[in-house]
Amino acid sequence: MKLKNVTRFLLFAFSIMFIASSCVKEGPMGLTGNTGADGKDGKDGVDANETCKICHTATKVDLIATQFEFSKHSYGEAAFEESGNTGCTPCHAQEAFKYVVANKVPSTFTLNATTGKYVNDYSTIASAAYGEIGCSTCHSALHTTYGTADLAFTTVAPVPMTMWGGKKTIDLKADGGKSNLCVKCHQPRPFTNALTGNVLDYVALATATGVVYDGNPTGTTNIIKPSYRTHTHYGAIGAVYAGMGGVEFPGTLAYTNSTHTTVASCSDCHMGTMVGRAGGHTFSALGKFDGCNVTGCHSTAVTATSTTLWLNPRNEIKTLLASLAAKLTVGGVDIMNRNGDSATNLWYGITANNYDGYLNIYDPITNPTAQTYNAKSFKYVGTPPATWSTDQIAYNATLPIITLSNAQMGALINFQLCLRDYSLGIHNFAYTKALLTNTIAKL
Ligand code: HEC
Ligand code: HEC
Ligand code: HEC
Ligand code: HEC
Ligand code: HEC
Repeated sequence: MKLKNVTRFLLFAFSIMFIASSCVKEGPMGLTGNTGADGKDGKDGVDANETCKICHTATKVDLIATQFEFSKHSYGEAAFEESGNTGCTPCHAQEAFKYVVANKVPSTFTLNATTGKYVNDYSTIASAAYGEIGCSTCHSALHTTYGTADLAFTTVAPVPMTMWGGKKTIDLKADGGKSNLCVKCHQPRPFTNALTGNVLDYVALATATGVVYDGNPTGTTNIIKPSYRTHTHYGAIGAVYAGMGGVEFPGTLAYTNSTHTTVASCSDCHMGTMVGRAGGHTFSALGKFDGCNVTGCHSTAVTATSTTLWLNPRNEIKTLLASLAAKLTVGGVDIMNRNGDSATNLWYGITANNYDGYLNIYDPITNPTAQTYNAKSFKYVGTPPATWSTDQIAYNATLPIITLSNAQMGALINFQLCLRDYSLGIHNFAYTKALLTNTIAKL
């Protein structure tokens, strides 16, 4: 026995003797209670210096959060306004976006046997129809492992397009599919057929000869009931960028795509270095050219004054948009609405006449500036709402009636798509030019 162990043994023997003698003096001891269950091992504490600092430094989260305040994802009000609406929030609110991604909600349309009409399946549930767009909209794993893996994107999977009821899928492969994250939201909403509720058949619009609206609000064959708001919803970019969102009238130009579609990603031009109030997590490309000039992209530096790669192509698309709008008339009245107010027209300045992509149909409540910027508008289709004044109802009665052929409907969709793409052809010049040129020829 080692000396240390001998000492321990003596101490142990001594204490037993002591306990035994005390027992004799104080009478019998009570029963020993059951041994309690072992407590769970605590998780090892996370070392703040090692993991939190992956993100929580002045140059990462702190700086990115500052940039993000300049992103419309953050300062825009649509998330707040559309909260509660299960059809709008998949693209407008954080929890709804995460819900449709996690539950793989399909973008199909299904026939409802009771009503005989199709229903859009791309929606969230009422309890997950809210949330401002924030860091975890796109990085949904934040604060799960506290490691770099938490920055992974909510989705980079190919995007079945809601405008086609899921029958066409966008897959932008550059940069590991990062653009698919953007396009999941930045894609157009479907145009629906007023009779069936199903998505509009763009092939029919490009080839059929009849009308989609005959001018009679009670007509039984009208597949469109035109209104001021008959529009391609704002997310036109995804469809234009991928070259798959237009009414493709056959014509002299083939529908091909710009090199951007396969080699560039949204973040190449919209993120990266901050330039003014653009770049980084502002997601804005305004006045930003560094993305064009990185190694492997344009060898001749692109700047705001470059002719071949900036001014000329943009002017060409601007001219095509103006020519198309000039052809989109019925009885000399513009079909496309003009809005010269830079505060309410998101596409102010893109065309000389300041079209905003809406239709020039009288609607004093939703389009109060119609009479200011349009020489004349079309009559409201159907019975004017009860909220209109007697004067407004009387004025409406004097206005001309709109009719729309398949070709005109296809043309106005293409106009809206190319205008609301914002970039005047920079996203996908080949596709934008073909769409506008062939449409003008068709009219
Ligand atoms: C993978 C990156 C990442 C890591 C690692 C990380 N965080 Fe965060 N954290 C974020 C982001 C992003 C936000 C949101 C910032 C914002 O909204 O401005 C955030 C926000 C926070 C907040 C503010 C409250 C909140 O939830 O919005 C606290 C507190 C916080 N983190 C603590 C920690 C601690 C402590 C650790 C380490 C144990 C840690 N974080 C590790 C990315 C990270
Ligand atoms: C969850 C859906 C969603 C995702 C994902 C998303 N966006 Fe957005 N984005 C929106 C919405 C909605 C708006 C408009 C917000 C508003 O006005 O309130 C917007 C606005 C923008 C704007 C400002 C447009 C303007 O009119 O000034 C840019 C630029 C933009 N997004 C780029 C991107 C890029 C690049 C990505 C991918 C890295 C992306 N977005 C991912 C939904 C999304
Ligand atoms: C498929 C995705 C998607 C759906 C569904 C969707 N939106 Fe949007 N919406 C967007 C995107 C993307 C933008 C921003 C585009 C931009 O600015 O370039 C936007 C912009 C808007 C804006 C303009 C905000 C501003 O900056 O002024 C409003 C208003 C709006 N949406 C309302 C709605 C409503 C109402 C619904 C439902 C009826 C809806 N959205 C459904 C994608 C969608
Ligand atoms: C609309 C989608 C979206 C939102 C919202 C978003 N991010 Fe990101 N984030 C991205 C994309 C895309 C990248 C990759 C950027 C690139 O490739 O240049 C990224 C990259 C990052 C990185 C890694 C880049 C680096 O410098 O290491 C961090 C950190 C980050 N985001 C933090 C944040 C924080 C903090 C917020 C909120 C304030 C936020 N993100 C909101 C899309 C988003
Ligand atoms: C080759 C560069 C490039 C790529 C790639 C690109 N964009 Fe753009 N984007 C632009 C330019 C240029 C503008 C117009 C900016 C201006 O008018 O100064 C623009 C405008 C926009 C706008 C309008 C708001 C703004 O920032 O002006 C949105 C929204 C947008 N792009 C989204 C996207 C999305 C989503 C993708 C990916 C599918 C994408 N972009 C890919 C260059 C690009």
